[in-house]
Amino acid sequence: MSSPILVTGAGQRIGLAFALHCLEQRKPVIATYRTRRPAVDTLEQAGALCIHADFSTNDGIDSFIETLKAETDSLRAIIHNASDWLPESPASDPADVMAAMMQIHSMTPYRINLACRHLLENSDAGADIIHMTDYVVEKGSAKHIAYAASKAALSNLTLSFARLLSPRVKVNSIAPSLIMFNAGDGEAYREKTLKKSLLGIAPGEAAAVQTLDFLLDNPYITGRSIGLDGGRPLV
Ligand SMILES: NC(=O)c1ccc[n+]([C@@H]2O[C@H](COP(=O)([O-])OP(=O)(O)OC[C@H]3O[C@@H](n4cnc5c(N)ncnc54)[C@H](OP(=O)(O)O)[C@@H]3O)[C@@H](O)[C@H]2O)c1
Repeated sequence: MSSPILVTGAGQRIGLAFALHCLEQRKPVIATYRTRRPAVDTLEQAGALCIHADFSTNDGIDSFIETLKAETDSLRAIIHNASDWLPESPASDPADVMAAMMQIHSMTPYRINLACRHLLENSDAGADIIHMTDYVVEKGSAKHIAYAASKAALSNLTLSFARLLSPRVKVNSIAPSLIMFNAGDGEAYREKTLKKSLLGIAPGEAAAVQTLDFLLDNPYITGRSIGLDGGRPLV
């Protein structure tokens, strides 16, 4: 059996689409979830090994790594998708917001990559790390300052891990802007946000899945960030 692809935060939306797509291609998947949503049952029925993981503490990361290593001694890829989008607000302590954002977007990938290096090196079909970052890495964000900084840290981890793990493991980022709206987003917000890119659409999970396939299949890209943003920097 081929080495599994690990997808973090696979209980919904883009992470779920990544995991289901890999399973459809008969690639084994290990998926992490924090909340047990109905989609986790769907993933299990499709053949994924689903592991509960809460990365908000270092103990949570340690416990996940221990469970993962008990399940497999090799990985074809790690897709760091798990994410939160906390804004700065009068109701929250900025120190807590920054700590939470750095924990999920920077500490978690950093520690999992270091701990799982040899699992990737054991893959006999090439190996990849893919960091899901964000377009705001280039531009900052007035309403999500800590989020943007933590995704910028993740983008920088791409460079360091590409150096460290070459040539056995390719390490790249996907930097999306709007892929899909959240359920509660109103019409005015949707209209305003769509106008922020040249292409003016919310392409949905399929665009992210195509980019994932591109990076997994390509033998000569490492240490790069692929902008998945409809031409947003040009508007
Ligand atoms: N959607 C977009 O338009 C867009 C735009 C730019 C960048 N991105 C990036 O693309 C990726 C996927 O986006 P998405 O919209 O599909 O994300 P999402 O809907 O917010 O899902 C992220 C998943 O990460 C999990 N997660 C969050 N904090 C966690 C923690 N501390 N420990 C363990 N799991 C945790 C969540 O678990 P729960 O199920 O428990 O909440 C959730 O299922 C993210 O990295 C995001 O930053 C997306």
